[in-house]
Formats: sequence, structure tokens, C-alpha cells
Amino acid sequence: MSAARQLRLILLGAPGAGKGTQARRLGEAFGLAQIGTGDMFRAAVAAESPMGLAAKEYLDNGELVPDEVTIGVVEERLHHDDARDGFVMDGFPRTSQQATAFDALLAKLKRRLSAVIELSVPRDELVRRLTRRWVCAHCNTSYNLLSAVPKVAGVCDRCGFLLVHRRDDDQEMVRHRLDVYDEKTAPLIAYYQGASLLRTVEGTKHIDEVFEDIAAAAGVPKEPTA
Ligand code: AP5
Ligand code: MG
Ligand code: ZN
Repeated sequence: MSAARQLRLILLGAPGAGKGTQARRLGEAFGLAQIGTGDMFRAAVAAESPMGLAAKEYLDNGELVPDEVTIGVVEERLHHDDARDGFVMDGFPRTSQQATAFDALLAKLKRRLSAVIELSVPRDELVRRLTRRWVCAHCNTSYNLLSAVPKVAGVCDRCGFLLVHRRDDDQEMVRHRLDVYDEKTAPLIAYYQGASLLRTVEGTKHIDEVFEDIAAAAGVPKEPTA
């Protein structure tokens, strides 16, 4: 998979579109660093680090963490060795300022984006998914009782930790996060369309099909069937 290891992808999509689910699969299948800003902020909140303490209020209220903080976190993360060959961004960039800062950062590092994949899912489906989601408190894997059922109720298949509801997944907060997405993040669809990087993938299909569609949209050659 040497060609795929050079993939540098952004997954763009509303809360609940399946960014985390697909970032994990893409990362594992193609050896890409998974860079999920929400996961990084939640880990910092749990560790009560200074950055976590500063980010907590934003996460709890479904607001975006300020751009300077977020951009700094991503810049630091991109310097890790595992991000050198390829990465998949989950939840970043999310504002115009983050997108232009990311362009500048990649130019400085002499790296090019392969594609920006927009996962398209209707709003009522997003609300349904998030209010029924369970996540692993340890490794962040997402589950639900319809399309991603854990083998043992309430326990992560991957690491055996307990599954929990995210604090920001109650109905009211989900609606607010979707409004924030429409206002601040949806304009990036046109931004990346303008850069000829945008590929839109139907996010309502089965998780396996969405994965295949993303790989195809990113230009990964299909493995020959035996
Ligand atoms: P973040 O953690 O990024 O949350 P989000 O964008 O709201 O997205 P979610 O994680 O809720 O959804 P997802 O798309 O990952 O869906 P998932 O795969 O879990 O951000 C949280 C907070 O951190 C923000 O509110 C903000 O405060 C802060 N933050 C993060 N990044 C920031 C940034 N760049 N700037 C500023 N602040 C930032 O799937 C959802 C559910 O659907 C699961 O149950 C899953 O099993 C299911 N599912 C997935 N795919 C399918 C499918 N194809 N069919 C059926 N069900 C499916
Ligand atoms: Mg996520
Ligand atoms: Zn786990």
C-alpha cells in the first residue's frame, strides 16, 4: 500500500457524519496517522492539562475551541513521525481561518493534500445517530445499537473498556453543534471545491460501502479480487 501511505486526507462533515468511524478505518487500512482534534481535546480535558482546562468549556457548550489554540495543536501533531507519510484529518479544519492556516502549514512542510472528502448525511439522520451513539472512553471507537453494535453490550470490542455517552450528545447540544457546523464549517465545502480537492461521498450507505467510496474518491486503486 505504498501509494496509499502518501495519502493526505481531510474528512469534512457535520457532527455524526461518520468522520471518526471512517478515519479509524482509513488509518488502519492505509497506515495513516489519524488526527482527530475532538479526540485530542477530550483527552486533554480528561488529563486536566492546561490546554484541556481551557478547552473544556467550549466542548461542554458545543462551541468551537478558538482557532489559535486548535491550529497550534494540529501544527504540533503534524510534526510527529507517524504523520510524515500520510494522515487523515477528522474534524479539522472547521473554520475558514483554520483552513487557510492549514494550507500555509502544509506549504511550509512541502506537503500536498490528496483530497478533501465531504461525508454527506441529512440532518435528521445526524440527530438520530448522535443521540443513540455510545463511545469507548478509552480508544474513542463509536458504536450504536443499529449499525455498529458492540459484541458485548456496553463494552468496547477493541479494548474492553466501558462505553459511555459523550457529554455533548444530548438532543439540545446536538442541534446546537449542527448549527455551528452550518455557520462556521459548511463554507469550507466551497473553499475546497474552489481548490479542486473536494469529493462528496454519500454518508448514509453502510459503513463498509462508505469506506470503499472514500478510498475510490481518494484515488486508491481497488485491490484485485482473488
Ligand atoms: P468532534 O469530536 O470532532 O465532534 P463532531 O464534529 O461533533 O463529530 P462527531 O465525533 O460527533 O461525529 P463523527 O462524524 O466523528 O461521527 P462518528 O463516526 O462518531 O468535536 C467535538 C468538539 O471538540 C467540538 O464541538 C469542539 O468543541 C471541539 N473541536 C474539535 N475539533 C475542533 C476544531 N477543528 N476547531 C475548534 N473546535 C474543535 O459516527 C456517529 C454515529 O453514527 C456513531 O454511532 C456511528 O456508529 C454511526 N455511524 C457512522 N457511520 C455510519 C453509517 N455509515 N451508517 C450508520 N451509522 C453510522
Ligand atoms: Mg468524531
Ligand atoms: Zn475502546
